[in-house]
Amino acid sequence: MRIAIVHGANLRMLGRREPEVYGSDTLEDINRRLHALAEELGVEIEVFQSNSEGAILDYLEEAVPRIDGVLINPGAFTHTSVALRDALAGIDRPFVEVHLSNPAARESFRRRSYLAPVAAGVVAGFRAESYLLALRGLLAHLSRD
Ligand code: DQA
Repeated sequence: MRIAIVHGANLRMLGRREPEVYGSDTLEDINRRLHALAEELGVEIEVFQSNSEGAILDYLEEAVPRIDGVLINPGAFTHTSVALRDALAGIDRPFVEVHLSNPAARESFRRRSYLAPVAAGVVAGFRAESYLLALRGLLAHLSRD
């Protein structure tokens, strides 16, 4: 079992980016925790981050033959990208949408997700913990298929 972890726009700045909203963990901290949980659960993960929408689309297309599912925090692409929704809907692999904050409790433009309607599930609002919950959720989803 191999899961792709995708971090989208501006997530490399975690730790110094609006810590009151996103927490003080850096992306490296989150990836470290994900690797530790993956090892505990006996699954492989690979991690990809880009601020470029096109690079994420290219990555998904290239990674799909070797992965079983995707855990993705698209950042602001959540609220803007039909192309990302189409890519995720087209790869025939379940994915979980993850957010550190709870977009539903923030500005109105964050309330629309183009991805959520085609996701296996959404985990939001638990800061770094969201990723760990999402990995467990995705694995539970995959094991019942
Ligand atoms: C985010 C929420 C998005 O609205 C925002 O644009 C981000 C981060 C989150 O993890 O809470 O960049 O995806």
